[in-house]
Amino acid sequence: MSNKEILVTGGAGYIGAVLVPELIGDGHRVTVLDAFLYGTDPDTDPIVHERCQRRRGDIRDFDYVDSALQEGGFHTIIHLAAISNDPSSELDPEVTRSVNLEAVEHLMHSAKRHGVKRFLYASSASVYGVKETENVTEDLPLDPITIYAECKAKGEATLNSLVDDSFVGVSVRSATVCGYSPRLRLDLTINLLTDQGLTDGRICVFGGAQMRPNVHVRDLSAFYRTLIDAPADKISGKAFNVSRENASVMSLAEMIRNELDPSLPIDTVPSNDPRSYHLCADAAREQLGFEPQRDLVTAVKELRDAYDAGQVSDSRSTVYRNVAWMKAHPDVWRIVAKQAS
Ligand SMILES: NC(=O)c1ccc[n+]([C@@H]2O[C@H](COP(=O)([O-])OP(=O)(O)OC[C@H]3O[C@@H](n4cnc5c(N)ncnc54)[C@H](O)[C@@H]3O)[C@@H](O)[C@H]2O)c1
Repeated sequence: MSNKEILVTGGAGYIGAVLVPELIGDGHRVTVLDAFLYGTDPDTDPIVHERCQRRRGDIRDFDYVDSALQEGGFHTIIHLAAISNDPSSELDPEVTRSVNLEAVEHLMHSAKRHGVKRFLYASSASVYGVKETENVTEDLPLDPITIYAECKAKGEATLNSLVDDSFVGVSVRSATVCGYSPRLRLDLTINLLTDQGLTDGRICVFGGAQMRPNVHVRDLSAFYRTLIDAPADKISGKAFNVSRENASVMSLAEMIRNELDPSLPIDTVPSNDPRSYHLCADAAREQLGFEPQRDLVTAVKELRDAYDAGQVSDSRSTVYRNVAWMKAHPDVWRIVAKQAS
């Protein structure tokens, strides 16, 4: 148990809604800084705890960020806030660059200036682009093919340029995340296919042969918690892949069908999606002793249980799908953008 001051940007999002309560459970004091974009709100947020402060703010508002860091005296920043996938990042490349790169670089510089000791950066396995190599390891060159991945890769470079003996920076190249979160996303491969099975009674696979790495959201949360106390010399200036398992999209669909109902039909639609890779997560295991504990079928079972328990109201709602939500509510995120500029 430890009791550090931790700032989690984007802490109201899918990963943050799982991570923040776990950090509080570990004994930390947590400040969530979030624009509360996806139907969430600081006043109704389920994470109510005396050691959790929620601040509605935009990371593009540099003065706001600087004063939050000045007041906070944070030991660690876990930076999750982002336009957080490829399709939503394509909607408005200018907004994406401002959130996913310019604001990130400012936050990193400001963190160092304000004496933050550790910066844990949510990068993504998408920074590798399309690789022919059998196992994608951290030492391979980064070849991002989307604006989302390009911003993540540039953010890593900025962080690495800032690390020194008093400022530890580490990048987390996570696989696609799966499983239930109080701020659920149903636009992530396993969650999406599971929702189709539960809501539509059939599963639709685009392509199917593409290899995709996946990790359970609580395992990713556990990895961030590991990094808070890991020895600086083992992590600083490094990037770690985090993944439980690589599988083709079709085999994921079959796993989900077998778990939910073996008679569910699986439809296939041709796809020219070039993103296919086999992520190697050995470095986290060998260097940090980190082993994901949950297999992928656990995520499917937990999602089904959450649906059965009525925890997913109106599963067709755009609130569970970032790009659909952003298209449906352009005023909200464009207003947020204007306020910040
Ligand atoms: N979910 C995945 O599969 C996955 C995989 C790899 C990396 N990541 C990265 O992990 C991080 C978290 O992902 P997630 O799935 O929780 O995403 P999410 O979209 O659920 O959460 C992102 C949060 O950031 C907030 N946000 C967006 N723009 C903001 C701004 N300008 N200022 C302040 N807050 C803002 C949103 O309100 C939201 O709460 C992201 O950086 C994402 O790129 C996610």
